[in-house]
Amino acid sequence: MSKGKFITFEGVDGAGKSTHLHWFADVLRQRGLDVLVTREPGGTPLGERLREILLSQPMHAETEALLMFAARLEHIGQVIRPALRRGTWVVSDRFSDASFAYQGGGRGVALSKLEQLERWVHEDLQPDLTLLFDIPIEVARQRLSSNTSLDRFEQEQGSFFEKVRQAYLERYQKNPQRFVLIDAAQTPEAVKADLEKIILALA
Ligand code: TMP
Repeated sequence: MSKGKFITFEGVDGAGKSTHLHWFADVLRQRGLDVLVTREPGGTPLGERLREILLSQPMHAETEALLMFAARLEHIGQVIRPALRRGTWVVSDRFSDASFAYQGGGRGVALSKLEQLERWVHEDLQPDLTLLFDIPIEVARQRLSSNTSLDRFEQEQGSFFEKVRQAYLERYQKNPQRFVLIDAAQTPEAVKADLEKIILALA
């Protein structure tokens, strides 16, 4: 059986990527593919426990980076690689680009340290495709404002998210062959139309 594809969804909180991710996975399934939807931090029992801590407990920025990659190592070993090997497509809500954007851009953790962690944890694995949901921060903040229980990241200031957005765009500029930029400020219908075109090119 052929190897599955590894697709990641990225973007600042409030970009709407998670809603579209489930729709995207369903369309792939309708095309006869075996699709696993997962998320980071999370995706394994330990990863989900680390997620609870990461989303609620204040900590040093480098501790945050280390825990993100610790959860990722479990996720890759237990879930992502076995699925890809059996031909299943893996669609993950975030992966390492989020560490470069949030811990690197947002919190100021040195790029060289994050690159070291990336090499340690998944030197030979990168997503086949990354959909970056890009949106002006004031629009994303507006969308989050109706949410009554914001987590530790969602409670950050607009200036934090501006840095996260810029860091994501830098990742996109460095890896243009892997990324597709989605204009997430469009209507959900327009975003779906863009995603449909991507799916047509993929499967
Ligand atoms: P989610 O709400 O999109 O599932 O993501 C949870 C939060 O975790 C989100 O605010 C981004 C953050 N995050 C990081 O800061 N670094 C990472 O490496 C990952 C995967 C997520």
